[in-house]
Amino acid sequence: MATYINGKQYLQLTILKMTPQLHTLLTIVRDKQTKRNDFIFYADRINRLLIEEGLNFLPTREKIIETRTGEKYIGSEFVGKICAVPIIRAGLSMENSIREVAKKIRIGHILIQRNEETAEPIFFKDWLPGDIAKRYVFVLDPMLATGGSAIATIKRLKERGVEENKIIFIAMVSAPEGIKAVLDAFPNIRIITAEVDQGLNERAYIVPGLGDFGDIYFGTA
Ligand code: URA
Repeated sequence: MATYINGKQYLQLTILKMTPQLHTLLTIVRDKQTKRNDFIFYADRINRLLIEEGLNFLPTREKIIETRTGEKYIGSEFVGKICAVPIIRAGLSMENSIREVAKKIRIGHILIQRNEETAEPIFFKDWLPGDIAKRYVFVLDPMLATGGSAIATIKRLKERGVEENKIIFIAMVSAPEGIKAVLDAFPNIRIITAEVDQGLNERAYIVPGLGDFGDIYFGTA
């Protein structure tokens, strides 16, 4: 489905269908009164919905099996291996959710921190599997704000040989500025998000947003 940001069509953007359930989960995680335990529980639930949607973009091929009635069933199986790359630190919150749905997944990590004064990303280090170029890569970061960390991560993955069309970026809440920056730089990656907010404030936080995701999830506020 085509999605528009400020009048421009982005075919590579998937926004989860807003259901009463998803709306309720998003309300809980955005609410400043929500206690940390509940924040973690409901953020994990949204993350699983996002990752399940991401899995829909992996290629499959026909697989014919025999059921317990002895009859044939024309089914399918996933083709290709995957790797998740959480962007440290907030992306680590999504690691368990992807492990729960993808049994043999490899997990890489990338350490990019944003300078809190300038909101510019600073790349420190990555740990990626040797065969990353052969894998579909799920980049995990719950808040897509300016897009700076996302762009630095995707640039790094491309340097390691990962093709753009094998990169799926998962963000719980996104700013239009971030989506535009990332998809204008890398038009063939896919972004999957639960909701697109109004924009960024002067500190480059998403508004209405939810605040500092990492601080709430990891209890360092
Ligand atoms: N990171 C966060 O945790 N929240 C924002 O709003 C933007 C970046």
